[in-house]
Amino acid sequence: MLRKILNSDEFGKEEIKTILSSSTEEEFELLKNKATETLKKFSSDKVYLRGLVEFSNICECNCFYCGIRKSNKSVNRFTLDDDEVLEQAKWCSEKGFGSFVIQSGEVKNEKFISRIIRILKRIKEETKSESQPDGLGITLSVGEHQKETYKRLFEAGAHRYLLRIESSNRELFEKIHPPEQLFERRIQCLHDLKDVGFQVGTGVMIGIPGQTLDNLAKDILFFKKMDIDMLGMGPFIVHKETPFAEYYEENLKNLHDIFRLSLNMIAAARIVLKDVNIASTTALQAIHPNGREEGLLYGANVIMPLLTPASVRKDYLLYEGKPYLEAGAEECLDCLKSSIENLDRETGLFEYGDPKHFFNRKMH
Ligand code: 5AD
Repeated sequence: MLRKILNSDEFGKEEIKTILSSSTEEEFELLKNKATETLKKFSSDKVYLRGLVEFSNICECNCFYCGIRKSNKSVNRFTLDDDEVLEQAKWCSEKGFGSFVIQSGEVKNEKFISRIIRILKRIKEETKSESQPDGLGITLSVGEHQKETYKRLFEAGAHRYLLRIESSNRELFEKIHPPEQLFERRIQCLHDLKDVGFQVGTGVMIGIPGQTLDNLAKDILFFKKMDIDMLGMGPFIVHKETPFAEYYEENLKNLHDIFRLSLNMIAAARIVLKDVNIASTTALQAIHPNGREEGLLYGANVIMPLLTPASVRKDYLLYEGKPYLEAGAEECLDCLKSSIENLDRETGLFEYGDPKHFFNRKMH
């Protein structure tokens, strides 16, 4: 059944559900082979590195699942200095990372936006090099904003933007967000980001209480319909200081299955969407020490090593068990490169590694 589906090139909801239901070693092999073949054919099987800096954990949102939600009073709130961000960006540029990701909580005031703009301009200016004459590529992940704001951020030099839909099912979206955070608004933002000219990434959490395979299959069709360029998906992991703490035991019990389902979801996304960039996320690694490598085997082609300064890393806790929290527990770049090599993959250095989909959709 699975073999037949993978050999066809028609992937409707039912076919995607079959892919997501894979549960035997034989099926996992089929998925890995098909995902890798698709990656090679429509994208490139190089692995691109994006250095991730968590710029600020101040957040105006109250997502029920998220550890840095506004109402979590036990979080020590921080915002990095411009120079601290610049230092990491320069390091990335020297090491040949294709690009740099700035992520933060959602803050809508002008002061915050103009600070980001100032930082973007400095990064573009100060990371110019022979191999990247325009400076480091920059991805932003700073939440919902007005189209005009997105335009300013784009013009300041960011060229990619990540904004997860979390679930493309309205009911589920509403179950995990307070009423003032609107599903329509999130969708509008994704359209605005595309209009402005960004390469746009979205994604969902996998294993949200009440989420079904049907929901996840439709998420993939949603990504297709929205013509998105990049995907970041990862397991939902309960944070104890959130309203979702009540799901702690259930979540813990299911983590193994959720991890498995996340890999199937990455494979399904690769097989159906073909030419997008897919990140193997930190949350995968939070569950399994080789989680990110596994993600690469199932069709992911981007890794985002955490470069937030160690002193504040513990304050950006979206979920329990986030890796690299202890001081000195820096990710070792050479180890990462050699684990990529061990998978018979090449690390894409000194190039942006843009998603092929962006250029393909521009041609149509
Ligand atoms: N478990 C897993 N992922 C989470 N995120 C936020 N909270 C959690 C959690 N408890 C993810 C969301 C968000 C991204 C930055 O982190 O999908 O978009």
